[in-house]
Amino acid sequence: MKIINIVGARPNLMKIAPIMDSFSDCASIDPILLHTGQHYDRNMSDLFFRQLGIPEPDLNLEVGSASHAVQTAEIMKAFEPVVLEHQPDVVLVVGDVNSTIACGSVAVKMGIKLVHVEAGLRSFDRSMPEEINRILTDSISDLLFCTEQSGVENLKKEGVAPEKIHLVGNVMIDTLLRHRERAEQSSILEDLGIGQRSHAVLTLHRPSNVDSREALEPLVEVIEEVQRDLVVVFPTHPRTRGKLREFGLSSRMEACSNLKMVDPVGYLDFLKLMESSKLVLTDSGGIQEETTILGVPCLTLRDNTERPITVEVGSNRLVGREPSQVLAAYRSVMEGEQQSSGVPPLWDGHAARRITEVITSFW
Ligand code: UD1
Ligand code: UDP
Repeated sequence: MKIINIVGARPNLMKIAPIMDSFSDCASIDPILLHTGQHYDRNMSDLFFRQLGIPEPDLNLEVGSASHAVQTAEIMKAFEPVVLEHQPDVVLVVGDVNSTIACGSVAVKMGIKLVHVEAGLRSFDRSMPEEINRILTDSISDLLFCTEQSGVENLKKEGVAPEKIHLVGNVMIDTLLRHRERAEQSSILEDLGIGQRSHAVLTLHRPSNVDSREALEPLVEVIEEVQRDLVVVFPTHPRTRGKLREFGLSSRMEACSNLKMVDPVGYLDFLKLMESSKLVLTDSGGIQEETTILGVPCLTLRDNTERPITVEVGSNRLVGREPSQVLAAYRSVMEGEQQSSGVPPLWDGHAARRITEVITSFW
């Protein structure tokens, strides 16, 4: 079975790593890895291939950045001839980025079977570009792999045939569990001159938080406040760095003496930063899940989440972005009031193996 596996953006890499690994051990699967080039900076892409042991992509579409319509269309235009040339049996997509829906829709229109890993997650917020990508990808997929029970329920409600849906666990957590020990060796704390549990980690990149001054400025206020009593390490996504500059907010960030605003860091360094932190403030999807396993309190700077299990087990709290609300939640974490109570079912490091077993028995 020839399977073309798609990656494009940073979080796709943590998801594909254990899948490629498991496919390479399976005699009946011939895996091809395709990078769309949606993310291209060394520290948003290449670095992760080396750190996570992902094989070099067989193909790179090198589409780069553009508006949603242009980026999606460029990926589709470049992917169609690849499918014609390689004649895969299956295309496998992960997550919810533009590369996911672009390649997924090309595949199904050419009669190729489509597998979606991380299916069924819903924030029920259609102003999120990812929510549109999730709904569209799930509606055309032949086999849908879910990380949590809410995903299974959402898909059933949307009319997906139950035999296509499989709860298999979380490939991002496969990667975390595989690399946790190696991350211990990271020198990032010494490099940044910080100690254990004396810092918060911050990431921000959702358009709803960073693409307007009205949304971003209150978050700068939050940063100013938190860094008064805790070092804040902020590996800054390129979108966000650009927006801080565009809205004239960079100088306020520079004035924060306890803020370490750095370029995005590699996976092992980031894991070490999270694991040794007092808390994480984020609008990332994947980081809500990783902090659940690390047992680190996570304050999610959003009004909704497509990953409700992280809130149910207690490690994650939705705090919006209104400064008084975020800071109240921050203070309660500092007083030790946010405790995680467990690990979601099947987040045990074996999701990729289950995916391989289902694919090979399904077709
Ligand atoms: C994308 C995904 C988002 C995911 C995020 C992970 C979509 C719709 N969004 O958002 O779901 O959470 O990736 O990080 O697919 N840029 C660089 N270098 C890079 C990549 C991007 O400078 O290597 C800058 C460019 O100015 C670009 C901007 O970042 O315009 C945004 O990149 P894009 O891929 O469009 O969206 P993300 O915000 O990264
Ligand atoms: N991450 C990283 N370095 C960073 C920030 C994040 O390695 O500087 C990792 C993080 O551990 C997680 C993934 O990137 O595995 C999350 O990606 P991102 O937040 O960009 O995307 P999302 O999950 O929101 O789609």
